[in-house]
Amino acid sequence: MAPKEHRYDAVIVGAGGAGLFAALELGRAGVKAAVISKLYPVRSHTGAAQGGICAALGNREPDEPLWHMFDTVKGGDYLADQDAVEIMCDEAPGVVFDLEHMGVPFNRTDDGKIDQRPFGGHTRNFGVAPVRRACYAADRTGAMVLHTLYQQCLKAGVEFFDEVFVTGLLFDGERAAGVVALGQRGGDFLVFRAKAVALATGGWGRIFRVTSNAHASTGDGAALALRAGLPLQDMEFYQFHPTGLHGIGILVSEAARGEGGILRNDGGERFMEKYAPRLLDLAPRDMVSRAVYQEIKAGRGLGGADYVGLDLTHLDAEVLDKKIPEITDFARVYLGVEPKEEMIPVAPTAHYAMGGVPPTVNGEVTPDERGTVAPGLYAAGEVACVSVHGANRLGTNSLLDILVFGRRTGRAMAAFAQENGRPEIAPGAAEPTREAIGRLRRQGGGESAAAVRDEMQAAMDEGVSVFRTAESTARAAAKVEELLAGYERVRVSDESSTFNTELTEALELGNLLALARVTAEAAARRTESRGAHSREDYPERDDGRWLNHSLCYYKEGRLEFKSKTVTVTRFEPKPRVY
Ligand code: FUM
Repeated sequence: MAPKEHRYDAVIVGAGGAGLFAALELGRAGVKAAVISKLYPVRSHTGAAQGGICAALGNREPDEPLWHMFDTVKGGDYLADQDAVEIMCDEAPGVVFDLEHMGVPFNRTDDGKIDQRPFGGHTRNFGVAPVRRACYAADRTGAMVLHTLYQQCLKAGVEFFDEVFVTGLLFDGERAAGVVALGQRGGDFLVFRAKAVALATGGWGRIFRVTSNAHASTGDGAALALRAGLPLQDMEFYQFHPTGLHGIGILVSEAARGEGGILRNDGGERFMEKYAPRLLDLAPRDMVSRAVYQEIKAGRGLGGADYVGLDLTHLDAEVLDKKIPEITDFARVYLGVEPKEEMIPVAPTAHYAMGGVPPTVNGEVTPDERGTVAPGLYAAGEVACVSVHGANRLGTNSLLDILVFGRRTGRAMAAFAQENGRPEIAPGAAEPTREAIGRLRRQGGGESAAAVRDEMQAAMDEGVSVFRTAESTARAAAKVEELLAGYERVRVSDESSTFNTELTEALELGNLLALARVTAEAAARRTESRGAHSREDYPERDDGRWLNHSLCYYKEGRLEFKSKTVTVTRFEPKPRVY
């Protein structure tokens, strides 16, 4: 049976903050737009963003977008493109006010302004001391943003295709023309034709075992782009958040340290005094994660175990109950720990992909190192690498990135759709995807997707973690290659068409393996330490050789790498001291 065809001016794949803000802008512009999501929209991973969204509002103390820009560039170890960072920091207050007017229930100061709290690496006056820059809704900021945007999209007439898994991109020559998708409810194939297509599918934390990411964070959009011949940028830079709940990785927001929480080792020592004497527990995440890891390695984890303690016991009970209620409950529910009385066991958890599909500051995907634009194709959110985070993202810059650039992407798509005609799709364009899925369903005898995923995650946790070496990354890359070769034989035993989650997991596994391979090979290739990429065998930053972005292409089964210039405008690279 021929796939059912839908026609829109714009389609957006993914219903997190970036996708929804882009869709809202399209709706506001009167453009016929659809959001396609493998999840029900408010289950998107944006809902897990806890601590806040930063903007130099200056509601609690003086602050300026330029200080925010400086912190972001320095926090990213000078790999971010500074023109993009400047736009993000300048537009931050406007985005926060837009959210406020839409109904996001931000916490308030006594005089009714949006309250703000400190977060790692955010400082006043170019690094003098921490500044209160993060606007927040308790520790549920992302969830509040997500629900608000979804409601606004419905009001603006955006249409939604929920629980529909996009499996292929369609092109008319060079121009994006739509997507092919699999309906999870009935197993039906769908073709969406559109003048403009955006990828907003989020990150791929599930390449690791211990991660703060949702099960659905499988990098589907990045893998689609890679298979379509587009590059992925800076994939070696994967962020580990210092405080995941021990063993399971669920995020314990940096807001806990913003509100006064302290990291302690087995001897009760506030160990960040040794690693970042000025910013202490509010140093950038890459540094805090390395410090936690080093304490554990030196045998100073609590009771000699592989975690340290997050001490909140000295904070007022009211702070815990009103400002960080969610994470304190996580500690009770998942670890049986009462944070008012005892330290929470924490360790680094895989959290955020700094790399991804490279777009312009208006979301247009750029297929080469010269900034050429792929007409009609856009990317925003964690799937994209604009690049505003460089080698290490600061906390609360993620909600900001997805919303600033989600909004800009929607506006650019609206203009493109209004100015351009409809692309053509060749008859049978959906067939290769349909055949690939058919093969996956027919093949048998191999391991289950879950078993292969476990092996991949173990290899990535072991080889491409907070610290890496040539040897560890090569071992991980080799293991992932071996698993990719066996992917042809992954078993899908469920034959049903209705919510065949085994088939969905097998498709997601294919995406994860592709991205794990790129991550491991990119990490092996970069022989320096910068931001979240810490090579024990190359401990220094090497600006002479490596002050450039990596671009990775998939060609005939192999990965090829190129370099791309970093845009430096206001801040020349300097050593990072905190
Ligand atoms: O710690 C947190 O609340 C995480 C925030 C972020 O990743 O931006």
